[in-house]
Amino acid sequence: MSEDIIICNCNEIYKSEIVKAIQEKGLKTVEEVGEETGAGTVCGGCVDDIQEIIDELNK
Ligand code: FES
Repeated sequence: MSEDIIICNCNEIYKSEIVKAIQEKGLKTVEEVGEETGAGTVCGGCVDDIQEIIDELNK
């Protein structure tokens, strides 16, 4: 994994937190990631990035 970056600016959620939540809880959707981490639940601008992370980890 490359450097840690903020994915969700609204809630200051880092990529590492999202990756960890997906791996530990077996999350499959942006909605589940939102419930778990709060990412993507404010402006929605980071939803595409969250989806990309999910796709990357589940391929
Ligand atoms: S940047 Fe993630 S909800 Fe706004």
